[in-house]
Amino acid sequence: MRKQNRIFTILLFSSMFMANAQTKKHLDKKLPIEERITLLMKEMTLEEKVGQMNQYNGTWDFTGPKPESGSEEEKYNHLKRGWVGSMLTIRGVKEVRAVQKIAVEETRLGIPLLFGFDVIHGYKTLSPIPLAEAASWDLEAIKKSASVAADEASASGLNWTFGPNVDISNDARWGRVMEGAGEDPYLGSLIAEARVKGFQGEKLEANNTIASCAKHFAAYGFVEAGREYNSVDISTSKLYNTVLPPFKAAVDAGVRTFMNSFNTLNGVPATGNSFLQREVLKGDWKFSGFVVSDWASIREMIAHGYAIDGADASAKAVQAGSDMDMESHLYVTELVKLVKNGTVNESLVDDAVRRILRVKFELGLFDDPYRYCDENREKATIGNKSNNEAVLDMAKKSIVLLKNERNLLPLKKTGVKIALIGALASDKNSPLGSWRIAADDDTAISVLEGMQKYKGNKLVYEKGTDVSKEKQLFVQEVKINYTDFSEFEAAKKAAKEAEIVVMVLGEIGFQSGEGRSRTELGLPGNQQQLLEEIYKVNSNIVLVLNNGRPLSIPWAAENVPAIVEAWQLGTQTGNAVAEVLYGDYNPSGKLPMSFPRNVGQCPIYYNLYNTGRPTDKDDNVFWSHYNDVEKTPLYPFGYGLSYTTFQYKNLKINNLTPKKGETILLSVEVTNTGDFDGKEVVQLYVNDPVASIVRPVKELKGFELVFLKKGETKIIQFELTDKELGFYDNNGKFNVESGLFNIMVGGSSVEGLVDRFELK
Ligand code: NOJ
Repeated sequence: MRKQNRIFTILLFSSMFMANAQTKKHLDKKLPIEERITLLMKEMTLEEKVGQMNQYNGTWDFTGPKPESGSEEEKYNHLKRGWVGSMLTIRGVKEVRAVQKIAVEETRLGIPLLFGFDVIHGYKTLSPIPLAEAASWDLEAIKKSASVAADEASASGLNWTFGPNVDISNDARWGRVMEGAGEDPYLGSLIAEARVKGFQGEKLEANNTIASCAKHFAAYGFVEAGREYNSVDISTSKLYNTVLPPFKAAVDAGVRTFMNSFNTLNGVPATGNSFLQREVLKGDWKFSGFVVSDWASIREMIAHGYAIDGADASAKAVQAGSDMDMESHLYVTELVKLVKNGTVNESLVDDAVRRILRVKFELGLFDDPYRYCDENREKATIGNKSNNEAVLDMAKKSIVLLKNERNLLPLKKTGVKIALIGALASDKNSPLGSWRIAADDDTAISVLEGMQKYKGNKLVYEKGTDVSKEKQLFVQEVKINYTDFSEFEAAKKAAKEAEIVVMVLGEIGFQSGEGRSRTELGLPGNQQQLLEEIYKVNSNIVLVLNNGRPLSIPWAAENVPAIVEAWQLGTQTGNAVAEVLYGDYNPSGKLPMSFPRNVGQCPIYYNLYNTGRPTDKDDNVFWSHYNDVEKTPLYPFGYGLSYTTFQYKNLKINNLTPKKGETILLSVEVTNTGDFDGKEVVQLYVNDPVASIVRPVKELKGFELVFLKKGETKIIQFELTDKELGFYDNNGKFNVESGLFNIMVGGSSVEGLVDRFELK
């Protein structure tokens, strides 16, 4: 018996030794990555290859339904056998190091793990929610924000973020609009590029950069009726012209991973969609990274009615190009069998594994699996001063001034009695927004705290009404206090005694995000009543909105003299809001999504098609409109005011009859005609009035963020090429068609200087 044991030990030892000796070759840094992968894959068993395609959640912080199978013990056993390629939600150097150690030291081949995490708008030091950042139209600032997030996440041991979310959406009912860049594919593409470059930096192997992930592939933002996880049915031209461009921009920017999506697209789940993943992404776009499924989305193909069981779902997913299984626990149980029984060709597994290993090599994990595990860096980096300064800068840039009458803003700094009203004004949690797993609760600077720093005025604070104490991510319903009016009187008294009332109203942090679709878009709870009651005693109201999506606020838009869109601005919210209210920062944000007049207008967006009856000619009902409300948005895409004013003059086109392939040069003069220095987003829109398939009434095709001192004029130039003038047809083919093109240059999607040219 003892002898047998000894033999077993010797065998085990020698086989481990042999494997290590052989596998060392792939550790040779001098060899090209592809060769290193080949060397390593030669050593791998089928089980170990499939293991690389398996991703498990850490034991805490679930970000989706609890898995139907697989115990913690099983996960641990799989880890030790080399049957896990990546973990998600584990964070912190100590934890990451401990798990990485198992992979590197206890498995046969010692292949390091990828540690993925939802770094969506910062890690611990939070930036504004992504939709708010998009309102800045400031690509450098957005890139910087992603690099700050990468800096902190990597300092915490992570090497991969599940971001950016590049889903275009024009439906404010969908809670996940807070994670994206809004409704426009042009702006969305540039922001996708900025975010990918911010996360990944110049060198992926640097210890302060992380691999990024373009998600959710594809068309998730078009779920019917804005209902979460719902189906998507859109035309091929819509897919190519609106949905795919930001994904393509992410590929061009070097994004290393993609995540597919929960929805079906025209009847086929995205996870099992080989057109999307194999034809477009890995075929046409030559994407060399890998695709991770969304949380349990492989298994969900059964519920969709696309797969009969786990084996069928696994086969369909891998055949369609889903390389890594996030938390379905299916590849690890089914794929080996499927290869052995001939259902799945092993070359598909090899392709997936090569892609996954490629990213691991590129991150430098084989050269140092612990390169993101430096306790000293973790301490020095997370929450440091410069990261806080960066997110404050981003927060100020994200604010949009929607209305400013009676010269209420900027506020005078001395001698004014101000009543600050609204539960959200003192809320230190909601401004952090959704998707902030690593941040501690109640760590935002509240608006109250920000305003208290300006000591020259008398500031009185009253809550007025409650919103919610709910801080959990997973509660079914975010509970809003709808009925308690008991604090209205105190708020009214404060308002009556004040010269100016600042009201902070809107959504709490977890009212948007995943699983947070809404069918009402007004101010939640009794906040609308509070607003109207306060207005009766003092109409000098500055309304500061906190929200993760466009809200419909027609009453406020009509009655309240000043409205500031402050979204959820992250850790530095209160400081940013106070600086803008007091004029230490002149707001320059522009809306990245249209604001509806009411929810019945959704989806509403600026780049729509005309109808056959776009306007009312005969004063009858037979034209495209609503009977009860105008068809235009309350606040359109691209809209936003400043404390100063800008005038546009002298729009010029260098060639009124350009030929296809030629570059058309446009210029416009912009003057700061007001009393403050300020920034303007100069926007260029194009319309192709007659085409082989109808084109939108206008499409953003250029913009420039320009700073002008008061009285200053600058000439802004744009270039248009075939890329901006062409479009994809219903076969996914890009066409540039000759004919007239209308252009408009201005400060929003609804007004500007117009001209036209004819493309020959
Ligand atoms: C599900 C979400 O759809 C996805 O965006 C996220 O990255 C994963 N869960 C992991 O948390």
